[in-house]
Amino acid sequence: MKKLLLYIAGLLAVIFIVIQFVPSNMPENDSDISDDLLVTEQAPENIKLLMHQACYDCHSNQTKFPWYAKVAPVSWLLENDVKEGREELNFSEWATLDARKKIKMLSEIGEEVEEKKMPLKIYTVIHTNAALSAEEIELINDWTVKLSDQIMEN
Ligand code: HEC
Repeated sequence: MKKLLLYIAGLLAVIFIVIQFVPSNMPENDSDISDDLLVTEQAPENIKLLMHQACYDCHSNQTKFPWYAKVAPVSWLLENDVKEGREELNFSEWATLDARKKIKMLSEIGEEVEEKKMPLKIYTVIHTNAALSAEEIELINDWTVKLSDQIMEN
């Protein structure tokens, strides 16, 4: 029995080491913030802080990778979330959207946050400071409504 357990542990260790050699596909970061949502729309500081903490690792080109982000199989999970998150909505490319798309996105941001679908649950388990309180959800939601009205008036 003991031998079998040792054998399994050894096998797992070998698998763990081998998967580290699978080439990484992590999306690249880009420090250009000239089209960034929070910059171009001059978001208030509290909104900036909240969204950077809760959304920007997946929805911008400024993902902050923790050390374990480079360790498979965690890296594979992160890779997918970041890739998909940026594809759906990339705050670093905000200024390139037309007004109609911006308004639609703002309403979706409010909705996702209100319904607690965003930030993704799996993310807030590790990044506990990314979880939004009821008050913070209200703040983000109010800001998206206000910004949306502003864009509509222009
Ligand atoms: C851990 C990564 C991660 C974090 C953090 C995160 N998102 Fe997402 N987001 C995703 C992924 C992946 C998708 C696409 C798949 C889905 O809808 O579940 C998505 C989709 C969305 C969509 C598009 C929904 C649609 O139907 O088009 C919106 C809007 C959104 N997120 C807003 C936010 C906001 C706002 C925050 C911060 C409060 C946030 N997300 C935090 C990963 C993330």
